This record gives sequence, C-alpha cells and structure tokens, in this order.
Amino acid sequence: MKSILITGGAGFIGNHVVRHFVNKYPDYKIVNLDKLTYAGNLETLKDIEQAPNYTFVKACITDEDQINKIFDDYNITDVIHLAAESHVDRSITDPLVFLRTNILGTANLLNAARNKWSNYKDHIFYHISTDEVFGSLGDEGLFEETTPYDPRSPYSASKASSDHLVRAYHHTYGMQVKITNCSNNYGPYQFPEKLVPLIINNIKYKKPLPVYGDGTNVRDWLFVTDHVEAIDLVFHKGTDGETYNIGGNNEMQNIELVHVLCDTVDRHLGREAGDARSRITFVKDRAGHDQRYAIDASKIKNELGWEPQVDVAGGMEQTVTWYLANMGWLDNVTSGAYKEYYAAHYS
Ligand code: NAD
Ligand code: TYD
Repeated sequence: MKSILITGGAGFIGNHVVRHFVNKYPDYKIVNLDKLTYAGNLETLKDIEQAPNYTFVKACITDEDQINKIFDDYNITDVIHLAAESHVDRSITDPLVFLRTNILGTANLLNAARNKWSNYKDHIFYHISTDEVFGSLGDEGLFEETTPYDPRSPYSASKASSDHLVRAYHHTYGMQVKITNCSNNYGPYQFPEKLVPLIINNIKYKKPLPVYGDGTNVRDWLFVTDHVEAIDLVFHKGTDGETYNIGGNNEMQNIELVHVLCDTVDRHLGREAGDARSRITFVKDRAGHDQRYAIDASKIKNELGWEPQVDVAGGMEQTVTWYLANMGWLDNVTSGAYKEYYAAHYS
C-alpha cells in the first residue's frame, strides 16, 4: 500500500494536489506535511480533513529528527515534494530562509528517503520545481528540458540547487526520482502576494494596482488543476530520472493580464468599465526582474499525453469568480503574521 508524503500541502498548489490524491486514490494513504508558514493554511483543506486516507502533520522539512520520525511513523513509500519558500520578492529581501528551506529542506528529505528506503525502484521521490531555474528569455525561444540552468534570483537559485540535489541522489544512489519544472500557476487558494490574487484583492477593495516596471514582462499562465493532472501523470507514468516541463501555452505581458483582471472583476461587481484600470500604478521594478518565461511542453505531451485544458480567458474567469465568492478566505489568510508584510508592501 502506498503511503505518500506530500510536502507543502497547505500551500497553494499543494492543497490541490492533496485533495486530488485523497479523492482519486482512496487506497493511498496521504500524509500532508507542512510547517504552516504565513503561506500555509489548513482552512483550505477543510473539505477533506475527515477523509479516512488523509493525515496532516505539522513539521519543518529542515528538521532531521522530525522528518526521520515521520518516515517511520507513517511508513512513507513515496514523496511528492512541494514545500518551499516560493515568492521571488521575499527571496530578494530575505534570501537565507529560501536557502534553508528550499536547499537544506530538500536535501534533508532526500537523505531520509535514502536511509529509510531499501529498494529504490519501489519508491518515487518526485520534486516540483519551476521554469525560473532556466533564467530569462528575450522575445524569442522557449525553455526546453535541456536548456542550461541560469537562475537569477535567490528563489530560482535555491530551486535550481534543489533540482541538482535530486538528480545527484538519482545518479549517486540510484534513487527513483522525477522532476517537473512548471510555469506560473494561478487559480483558487493562491496566497495574495502573487500577482493574480493580489490584483483581484486590490481591485475589490479599490486599492492601487502595482505593476512592476513598464509591465511588459511576460509569464506563461498555467491553471492549477491542469498542473495537478500533469503531476498525477508524471508520478504514475513518468520515467525514472527524467525532467518534464509543464506550461500553460498562455503567454501574456503582465499589463495585458492586469487589464483582463480589471475588466473581469469590474464586470462581476457591476462597476463602470475602466474603473479598475484607472487604479493601475506603475511602481519601481523588481531587482533583477526576469523579462520573459515561456515553456516548451512538447515532451510531456508526446510521452505522457498531457496538454493544458484551460485557456487564460476561461481560467481567469473561474479564478475571479472563486475569489469574489470566497473573500472570507482571503481576509483570513491576509490577517495574522502576513498582515504587516501586506500592509507595508501593498496598501
Ligand atoms: P506556497 O508558497 O503557496 O506554499 C508553500 C507551502 O510550503 C506552504 O504551505 C508553507 O507552509 C510550506 N512550507 C514552507 N516552508 C516549509 C518548511 N520549511 N517545512 C515545511 N513546509 C514548509 O507555494 P506554491 O505556489 O504552492 O508552490 C509549491 C511548489 O511549486 C514550490 O516548490 C514552488 O517552488 C513550486 N512552483 C510554484 C509555482 C507557482 O506559480 N506557484 C511555479 C513553479 C513552481
Ligand atoms: P509573481 O506572481 O510574483 O510570480 P513570479 O515572480 O514567480 O513570476 O509575479 C508575476 C509577474 O508579475 C512578475 O513579472 C512580477 C509581476 N508583479 C507585478 O507587476 N506586481 C506585483 O505586485 C507582483 C506581486 C508581481
């Protein structure tokens, strides 16, 4: 019987992964391990917390004793690793916590797996990473799995380091590993420090809408449930030792995306056309701001048959609808420890 440790399950992508595995695979035991930093919130998982195949454990991935004990207590057979410090802006102001969690935390999990698992072929260590490890593109070109790593922020450098460690455990010890590098996710339950929920929240409360630099930076937007389907496929059918890029085929300049959100939220709230756009504020650019990310996801399409199903128009419509119907969730997660950071940066 599989007993899968999903790390970071109280975060944005993690909660969707946990819910999907708990509901779709009643024969798997799902252990959600999360430190519950400002970015993790158990309120997000209320609908499944009573499920018989679900357990939550509060722990830090950097704590060797805790992690070894969790492997023993729950007889962990596989790991899907999402826990991380994930916000680029925070990595610029406080890099060390990113290095500790993302590098040392990943190393600690790999090492526990190395010590606890006897036959590596029976176990999977699946690491969720980012397209940001590949650096920044100009107007042309796409990131492929073979694109050389060129991380430029403390966040992306820490994720690149963790990817290298995962590969090192594969090559050195023969551990069965899988890595995926995905583009910018969006959808329900994303913490409102990231662009999409931040803008929706600020439109709702008639606050300024901060766009970094001139707003021409390009990101490729991936709807979170499309990502979860890809994770399921890679976990079950991906090849040992391989990397797969996961993208949404939805490249947009930030300013175009902000316009879509402004018009969609205004329409939902019955406000005059142009109301939200009038509050767009171009602010000081992010230090070292990567210009463009774009993914070539043909490998996962050709090998595993995965393609994104949600286009950006439909996905943003769903996302806006969800946030406006769940402002209580937003208000709760922006209270407490996060409140001061939010007030300092975005009010
Ligand atoms: P998130 O910030 O929403 O959630 C991260 C979760 O990890 C939180 O629940 C937090 O409490 C937990 N966590 C942080 N430090 C921990 C520690 N030391 N020990 C245990 N738990 C800890 O992040 P997300 O957006 O859900 O991203 C999940 C993963 O996907 C990350 O590894 C991230 O690098 C990767 N990723 C995210 C995106 C994106 O667009 N969101 C894109 C590419 C890759
Ligand atoms: P973000 O959601 O932080 O994701 P990432 O930096 O990992 O791509 O930012 C997405 C893009 O939006 C990025 O180019 C930075 C930009 N951005 C803004 O213009 N204003 C904001 O307030 C934020 C948070 C991001």
